Amino acid sequence: MPTAWSPSQYERFRSERLEPVHDLVALVEPGVRRALDLGCGTGEPTELLLAHLGDAAEIDAVDSSPEMLARAAPRASARLRFRQGEIASLESFAGFDLVFSNAALHWVPDHRALFRRLLGTLAPGAQLALQMPNNQHHPAHVAASEVARQEPFAGWLGGFVQRSAVEPLERYAGWLWEARVARLRLLERVYCHTLARAADVVEWLKGSLLVPYLERLDAAQARAFLDAYAARLRKVIGEDAPYLYTFRRMFVWARAAG
Ligand SMILES: C[S@@+](CC[C@H](N)C(=O)[O-])C[C@H]1O[C@@H](n2cnc3c(N)ncnc32)[C@H](O)[C@@H]1O
Repeated sequence: MPTAWSPSQYERFRSERLEPVHDLVALVEPGVRRALDLGCGTGEPTELLLAHLGDAAEIDAVDSSPEMLARAAPRASARLRFRQGEIASLESFAGFDLVFSNAALHWVPDHRALFRRLLGTLAPGAQLALQMPNNQHHPAHVAASEVARQEPFAGWLGGFVQRSAVEPLERYAGWLWEARVARLRLLERVYCHTLARAADVVEWLKGSLLVPYLERLDAAQARAFLDAYAARLRKVIGEDAPYLYTFRRMFVWARAAG
């Protein structure tokens, strides 16, 4: 199955995608020596985090996409290491005093199990700093699953529909509380992005939400899917130019008891 992760497509909205990265990095408190970045992508947020942490820190960064890691590779140094890996198969987070992730965990299923492993193995005093897109109820995002359920796409996709793994905020609060974290901050923020036109949402989502669909289709099927999605989008969000694209995101910051 070809992968549709494309660093160039993802970076088309680079400045908008970096806004929450700056907000997430700002939540991280000083004193970190060894950090882990889950789903590091092109490594730009990882590099910003390293600058924030200062000279004593080093970061291990993991991503499953060879294409994204190839883009990240020139950023590597003795203090910034990238490797290919699957977040869901990481069993222990004990070696780190910060576990960081920007816009990646919504791709990892079963957050109950993931947070059990995270919170169960976090080192004493370690920080958790996570940002998860939580925009699955936006009409443009709902439209993607509606197209996927229509024929011929449902047949081509074998019934696959991409679902966000993100749980209601209160559930994370409960898990963190059960884990007896020493301190906790949960934030929700809606980013307001002005796109040149409503149709640009297709270009934005080709770099993220649409990836799991496109990588399951051949080139002709992918073109047909994108055409159907663009048509559906015109119906549900219209053709405003410029277009206000609202994007809801959730931030989870915690410090394990020391
Ligand atoms: C939306 S990008 C975010 C990348 C980067 N953190 C950023 O903020 O620019 C999501 C990244 O998560 C990676 N990813 C998705 N699911 C993953 C998984 N299960 N294990 C490891 N990486 C994953 C993708 O390859 C992609 O690079």
